[in-house]
Amino acid sequence: MASESEKPAVDAVTGTATTGHEWDGIQELNTPLPRWWLWTLYLTIVWSIGYWIVYPAWPLISSHTTGVLNYSSRAEVGQELVKLAALRTTQAAGLANASLTEIKASPDLQRIALARGKAAFGDNCAPCHGGAATGAAGFPNLIDDEWIWGGKLDDIQKTILHGIRWEQNPETRVGNMPAFGRTGMLKRDEISQAVEYVRSIAGLDVDKAVDLGKGKEVFAANCASCHGEGGKGNQELGAPDLTDAIWLYGSSRQAMTEGLINGRGGIMPAWSARLDPVTIKALTVYVHGLGGGQ
Ligand code: HEC
Ligand code: HEC
Repeated sequence: MASESEKPAVDAVTGTATTGHEWDGIQELNTPLPRWWLWTLYLTIVWSIGYWIVYPAWPLISSHTTGVLNYSSRAEVGQELVKLAALRTTQAAGLANASLTEIKASPDLQRIALARGKAAFGDNCAPCHGGAATGAAGFPNLIDDEWIWGGKLDDIQKTILHGIRWEQNPETRVGNMPAFGRTGMLKRDEISQAVEYVRSIAGLDVDKAVDLGKGKEVFAANCASCHGEGGKGNQELGAPDLTDAIWLYGSSRQAMTEGLINGRGGIMPAWSARLDPVTIKALTVYVHGLGGGQ
């Protein structure tokens, strides 16, 4: 290697200084690093030093250097969570202090209630009523405007709070469709007559071989007390309207006959003991807003 005092040898072909290393006549050139590369390197060094000063960087024995900004991503998340919790508390207080009608009347409260209600519906109600609340046989569609137990805000809230035929809840909604066939209240042909009569008032196809006059008599004597003279139903008793095209158990003869033989009494759990009042309010506003609210 060339000593400090010596001028480094220069390669004749490239004009570049050599390192002085030579193997079998081959000399090593001492090509300088490109300028742009060096400057980038210096820049990153300066940057990293700045970074160490400003942000947490070096591990210490039990902690780390905190940096002059005192930044911590964990603290940042913590602050966001505190803000969110505060927002949720104010929102819940807003819903708790307002009546159902006040919530409906205030666009802000309604927006909050709908968001909360939608989430709670997905968690608690969708297994029976379906994610889109369109129901299934035995589980009512909640987006149409037929209500078995009433579609006003207070009616819906009562249904949710106390359930339907939910024995554990003393305020639950009660009213059953009797098992006319099983208990021998009606004979088989009377059941067929009643079924055909119901089909006639519902605008469904009717079996001409069955005496509708008899069916009308059977209906007046056995059914009108709950379903009403004209079959329009009674929300106090949970007896559905039999004249429209909406059927809880289906419009087939088989479904109707089965109901007349064995009775019906769908059960919906009460939520007063399972969900807090604010969530129940939010659910009420949500279900009411699904399309059929009255
Ligand atoms: C275990 C199944 C089940 C669950 C869970 C359930 N429901 Fe129901 N729900 C029913 C049944 C069954 C009926 C119809 C009862 C009947 O035959 O009258 C009903 C009826 C209703 C009605 C009355 C509809 C009308 O036409 O009057 C409302 C409102 C309602 N449910 C809302 C809810 C809400 C909100 C939730 C969630 C908190 C929920 N349900 C959870 C089974 C369920
Ligand atoms: C004591 C009251 C009561 C009487 C009497 C009664 N029903 Fe019902 N009926 C109900 C109730 C309540 C339901 C709804 C059951 C449910 O939600 O699970 C119902 C449901 C029905 C349904 C099914 C409706 C649907 O949407 O799927 C039909 C059909 C029906 N009744 C016909 C009759 C006929 C016909 C008679 C007379 C022979 C009769 N009911 C007598 C209370 C009554």
